[in-house]
Amino acid sequence: MHRLSRRAILLGGAGLVGSAGLAATLTGCSTTDATHGSTHPIGPVPSASPSAGQGLVQKSLVARETTLDLGGPTVATWAYGDTVPGALIRAKAGDFLRISLENKLPADTSIHWHGLRLRNAADGVPGLTQDAVKQGDRFVYEFTAPDPGTYFFHPHVGVQLDRALYAPLVIEDPNEPGGHDDEWVVVLDDWVDGTGRTPDDVLKKLVDDGGGSHDMGGMGGGHDMGGHDMGGGGTAMAPWGDAGDVTYPHFLVNGRVPAAPERFTAKPGQKVRLRIINAASDTIFTVALGGHRMTLTHTDGHPVVPREVGAFHIGMGERYDAVVTLADGVFPLVAAPFGKTSGGQAMAVVRTGAGSPPAADVRPAELSGEVFIGSQLLPAESAKLPDRVPDATLQLSLDGSMKPYVWGMNGAPFGKNDPLTVQQGQRLRIDVTNQTMMTHPLHLHGHTFALPSGLRKDTVLLAPMQRLAIDLDADNVGRWAVHCHNIYHAEAGMMTELRYTES
Ligand code: C2O
Ligand code: CU
Repeated sequence: MHRLSRRAILLGGAGLVGSAGLAATLTGCSTTDATHGSTHPIGPVPSASPSAGQGLVQKSLVARETTLDLGGPTVATWAYGDTVPGALIRAKAGDFLRISLENKLPADTSIHWHGLRLRNAADGVPGLTQDAVKQGDRFVYEFTAPDPGTYFFHPHVGVQLDRALYAPLVIEDPNEPGGHDDEWVVVLDDWVDGTGRTPDDVLKKLVDDGGGSHDMGGMGGGHDMGGHDMGGGGTAMAPWGDAGDVTYPHFLVNGRVPAAPERFTAKPGQKVRLRIINAASDTIFTVALGGHRMTLTHTDGHPVVPREVGAFHIGMGERYDAVVTLADGVFPLVAAPFGKTSGGQAMAVVRTGAGSPPAADVRPAELSGEVFIGSQLLPAESAKLPDRVPDATLQLSLDGSMKPYVWGMNGAPFGKNDPLTVQQGQRLRIDVTNQTMMTHPLHLHGHTFALPSGLRKDTVLLAPMQRLAIDLDADNVGRWAVHCHNIYHAEAGMMTELRYTES
C-alpha cells in the first residue's frame, strides 16, 4: 500500500533524492532533544505590561497529574486543572493576556499559544524562546492577542500535547456583527493516555518498531512503512493516504467518549456558531452534523468566503468556524478519524427537540457525500495579503519515514537542519514539498501565511508528495518554530526554525 504512486513519480524526481539524502543525514538523531532544545539555554524572558486603555485578561493555570472521567473510561493523565479540555480562555482582539503557569507535573513543560501572532518571548518553545519551565517552577506568559479567532494552547515539550494538556482560546472580534443565537466550542481529540500506555510509551514504541533511534543507517528511500501501528489494517485512501501512525482506543469531543457524549441544546431554527478545534496528536477528522449542512466562515481565525458543506476534513492544529441553522430533533455531531479502523469515532449530541439519542457508532449520511478540503476555501477580501512579489523564496521539504521512525525538514531532523532565515519587512515565499507518503499538517508560529488562492492559514495539510507555496510578511521578529502538527512527527524531528536575521 505504500508503493510510490503514479503522482509521486510524476512529481517526485527530487523527492527520491530528498529521501535518500535524509537517510544519510539522520544517523544519531536523538528524539528527546528534538523539541526540547534543552542544550540551548535562553535565560530570562523580558516581561511586558498592558498599555494605557488596553484590556487585561489574567488567568492562572496549574499543570498537574490528575484522574479524569471521559464518560466511562477513567484515566490517569496530566491536565490544566481537573478537566479536559482545560477551561476556555476568552479575550477581545487587542487585549493583553497575562497567564501564569505553575508546573506541578513530574516533567518540564511550557505553553504555546497556537496560531496567535504574539511577541516571540511568549511563544512557549523551549530552546527557541524560553527555557522549559522546571518542575515546581512558575512562568508568566504576557502578550497582546492582536487578531480575533479560534485558537488553542498546549505544551511545546515532548509529546505532552497528547495528554489532557490543551484548552481552547477564543479571541472575540469587537467589530463582528454576530447574528447567531449561540456559540459552541467543539474540541476534538484522540486519546491514549492512562489506558495502559502514555504518549511517551507510544513514541518509544514507534521509534523501537522503526529500528531504534541510535542506529539509523540506510533509510531505504523512506517509503517502507512496514510494521505500522495503524488502527488494525487501515488502508491508504484519497485524499490523505496514510494519515496517522498511532492506534487510539478513544476519540473525544470536549473530553467525552461517544457513549456519554457532550450535549449541546438549542431551539429549532436557531443559528449557532461552531468553533471547531482539532487538538489531536495524530488524527485527521472528518466532521459532519447529521441532517444538516454547515457554512464554513473562518479558518485558523481568518474569515473566508462562506462555503456550505455537508462534511469537511480538519487536520491536527487546524480550526474551522461554521454556522448552522438547526432543525428540530436530536442530531449527532460526528468527527470520524480519517483512515483509522479501530477506536470508534468522536461524537457530541445536538438536541433541539424530542427524540432518542444517537448510537455511539452512528454514521451520518453527510460523511458518505462530498467531503470538503479546507484549504480549498477562498479568503474573505479583508483577510487577503496585499499583492506583492516575494523578496525571497526558500525551499522546505518534509522528509522521513516510519522505518526508521525519523522525520525531518530539509533533509535532517530538527537540531541538525539549518534554520530558514528571513529579514524583517520581507515578503517571504516558502515552497513546501511533502517528500513522504504520509499527510502532514504544517504549522508556522507567530505568523499566518497565504496559500496561492490567498487563503490565510497557520496550519495546512499537505497530502503525500504535495507541493504548496506559502507566502508571508516577515513582520514579527524572533525565532519561530515551523513543524508538523503530528506531535510524534514533530518530536521525531519534523521541525525547523524560521529565524529573523539582521541583513
Ligand atoms: Cu500547536 Cu508548535 O504548535
Ligand atoms: Cu507529520
